[in-house]
Amino acid sequence: MSQLTDKLREEIESVTISTPEELEAFRLKYLSKKGQVSSLLSQIGSVAAEERKAFGQKVNELKQQATEKFTQASELLQSQQKTVRNATDDITLPAASVPTGLLHPLSQTLDRIKDVFYRLGFTVSDGPELEDDFHNFTALNFPPEHPARDMQDTFFIRKTDSDEVDDLVLRTHTSPVQIRLMKEQKPPLRSIMPGRVYRNESITAKSYCLFHQVEGLYIDKDVSLAELKDTLVMFVEMIYGEGVKYRIRPSFFPFTEPSLEMDIWWGDEETGKWLEILGAGMVHPNVLRSVGVDPEEYSGFAFGMGVERIAMLFYGIDDIRLLYDNDNRFLKQFQ
Ligand code: DAH
Repeated sequence: MSQLTDKLREEIESVTISTPEELEAFRLKYLSKKGQVSSLLSQIGSVAAEERKAFGQKVNELKQQATEKFTQASELLQSQQKTVRNATDDITLPAASVPTGLLHPLSQTLDRIKDVFYRLGFTVSDGPELEDDFHNFTALNFPPEHPARDMQDTFFIRKTDSDEVDDLVLRTHTSPVQIRLMKEQKPPLRSIMPGRVYRNESITAKSYCLFHQVEGLYIDKDVSLAELKDTLVMFVEMIYGEGVKYRIRPSFFPFTEPSLEMDIWWGDEETGKWLEILGAGMVHPNVLRSVGVDPEEYSGFAFGMGVERIAMLFYGIDDIRLLYDNDNRFLKQFQ
């Protein structure tokens, strides 16, 4: 009998436990009710009476030995698992994303517009946001006291400590840049003029007190209305795709004659509607004269479009204020 217990002691001693599975196998083999240590104990009846005490003691020692080995191995395994978890967490998870900045949807739209006109051979020019009455109105053939000046909801600029209204305004459109350009450079001219404009309007889903326009001007000998139409159609097709539905209708601006507006169809066939995206026309002879260009020698066309409107139609945005709230939940959609 003592041979049996000795053999079992050696066996228990030599077992290696390095995985949870091996630990469980060890428990079943030596420590469970049907395990080898318990079954030794059940044989105590067949041991000679004088040896029983010593045998019982040996079996108890075996049980202790196995229990200790089990506890040690189990503690070791647990601590190993913890370090693995702490060191790397789950290495199969995707890496945490690092947030990056992105261009505002208006900047992206402006880039797109510029790209189209670069391809058509236009340069880019700019002018001041604080304009004088001459460039914003007079040179553009707005008669003095003409209601069109009111039509534009102008922010007039007043000198500090004075009730006197100066002749400065926050420009109501980018058309004054045409005047500056024609004063600076001789035709032929082909340029677009993007920039911020201001209107004293109440803020709604459709209008904001400031917005952006892109002005266009093309002056040369014998420029025709057909060329204007071609340019505008090419523009909307390059922005919205060849299938875009558009219409061109007559309109009025003091600085063009004839004048027109272009609408594009927004929405599906039944529920959609026409939305105006730009005004345009043949540059009025009075405008050419105001900057010293001879209308007998040169003609040209001009157009002005709202960048917000183009962006809203492009992306399907239905409230202009979203473009000015700077809410990151909105902005991050324009990757
Ligand atoms: N300046 C006009 C506006 O703000 C837009 C415009 C219309 C510009 C016709 C033009 C043009 O150059 O030819 O409503």
